[in-house]
Amino acid sequence: MTDVNLKKIVAEKAVDDYVDRDMIVGLGTGSTVYYAIKKIGGLVASGYRITCVATSVQSEELAKKCGIAVVDLNEVDSIDVTIDGADEVDNSMRIIKGLGGALLREKIVAAASMKEVIVVDESKRVSVLGAKSSLPVEVIKFGHLKTKYALELQGCKATLRMRNEEPFKTDNDNYIYDCKFNSIDNPFFLESRIDVIPGVVENGLFLNTATTVLIASGAGKIEKLGE
Ligand code: 5RP
Repeated sequence: MTDVNLKKIVAEKAVDDYVDRDMIVGLGTGSTVYYAIKKIGGLVASGYRITCVATSVQSEELAKKCGIAVVDLNEVDSIDVTIDGADEVDNSMRIIKGLGGALLREKIVAAASMKEVIVVDESKRVSVLGAKSSLPVEVIKFGHLKTKYALELQGCKATLRMRNEEPFKTDNDNYIYDCKFNSIDNPFFLESRIDVIPGVVENGLFLNTATTVLIASGAGKIEKLGE
């Protein structure tokens, strides 16, 4: 089964199992969540009343195209469930996110969600975080080379994310440094070190955030971690 099919299967399973009528649903960002948004659009077309909060301009635009009502996070008290993707997941449901550039809004939306359901294919599974993926860190533009220096003191190679030969800008008009560690053996400690660096807005470690992780593997089998 191709990666694309796995993404579709796992995203649709999350909608089937966790989304219901009259819910407020958080929409993550990325190529896996794409299929969840399309599926929610189908539910709305069939008469379900579902209100969504988006984690990126990209997801908001897709949701609106699918006929889904999208509101600002400030307009809701809380979110029933958010469905989001990930770049790495370990066996303790600790996660790296942000290769899609939406980590700041994703973390704010996750914190406002009663359930955070992460959908991935098996290629995202690791035994130690940082083994494959860089850790994205969103920083403000002002003095960003100083922020980069402080990030590298934590033991990584920090690379300014580029797009079309310009620094990539997030939906919040910030930059991202992709921080490559050999491995992240103590993610809680690393997060505490990164969060106190002036200029850092948010990091891509989502450590106590997921309530469920759904992992699709080769034969279309879905493994569930958490609730
Ligand atoms: C965006 C993210 C995405 O959820 C993550 O990059 C996974 O994306 P995809 O499903 O396309 O692999 O964190 O900021």
